[in-house]
Amino acid sequence: MTIQEILIWADEKLKPSCERPRFEAELLLAHYLQKDRTYLHAFDDREVENIEEFQKLVNRRANHEPYEYIVGEASFYDIELRVVQGVLIPRPETEILIDLVAEIIDREKINSIAEIGVGSGAISIVLARKFSDLNIVATDICDTPIKVATRNIKSFKLEDRVKVIKSNILDEVKTLIELVVSNPPYIANDFRLEKNVGEYEPKEALFGGVVGDELLKQIVLDVQSRNIKYLACEMGYDQKEPMEKFFGEIGVESYKFYKDLAGFNRGFIITFM
Ligand SMILES: C[S@@+](CC[C@H](N)C(=O)[O-])C[C@H]1O[C@@H](n2cnc3c(N)ncnc32)[C@H](O)[C@@H]1O
Repeated sequence: MTIQEILIWADEKLKPSCERPRFEAELLLAHYLQKDRTYLHAFDDREVENIEEFQKLVNRRANHEPYEYIVGEASFYDIELRVVQGVLIPRPETEILIDLVAEIIDREKINSIAEIGVGSGAISIVLARKFSDLNIVATDICDTPIKVATRNIKSFKLEDRVKVIKSNILDEVKTLIELVVSNPPYIANDFRLEKNVGEYEPKEALFGGVVGDELLKQIVLDVQSRNIKYLACEMGYDQKEPMEKFFGEIGVESYKFYKDLAGFNRGFIITFM
């Protein structure tokens, strides 16, 4: 089959599961051939060899597996990160959290932070690349994120400044920390997610408890009890009210919520006394 013919086949195959089937078909074929998409347009009459292997990739995508897991890579902020099943695919909204944290680090001349729930390493790597004096301890409770983040951190040569440790929240973090950043799991355990998320992404990265905000609240308490001044966290669009009530109950000096690009409440920054 030629490039043109195989793209027509892949487009049809992906129609039921993808919003932009032709585009995704081209992305997958470009990845498979290790070329960019313009090559497909310029040489659409070329024969594709070993077509069965490409068809396997398309079938995985047709079965709702996220594109990033199929190609093993995700774009985030200004970098490409290795991802595998067992690690959350970093989301564009988390880039907002990074920019807000970067403002505080810059303004307060902070050089020691912790991240809770490192995942692929997305947040810690981008922050470490922005601030060459910044030291980060990043925790996770799962082995796959620890392995993948460690590898990603190494590929950016940041292993001297970004340490990944297995730890519940901050339990094993023994160094002095000035700010904590986290995109923790915050979805209620019984929430029904779309197939591409619910069936492929790790439960430990998604579900935060029966209500959903249990881990978020525990993170707030742990950071407060360690006298760390700043906490920046992502949260669910419907969690502003319960979190605000909780901040009032435990007493924090100040807080502000921020929204994502779609206008939904997406997170908060707390300054402790
Ligand atoms: C939503 S993912 C975020 C991953 C990454 N930081 C990002 O933004 O793409 C949450 C991560 O927190 C980890 N996690 C869940 N519970 C945790 C806990 N109690 N302590 C530390 N990490 C935890 C999960 O394994 C997962 O890697």
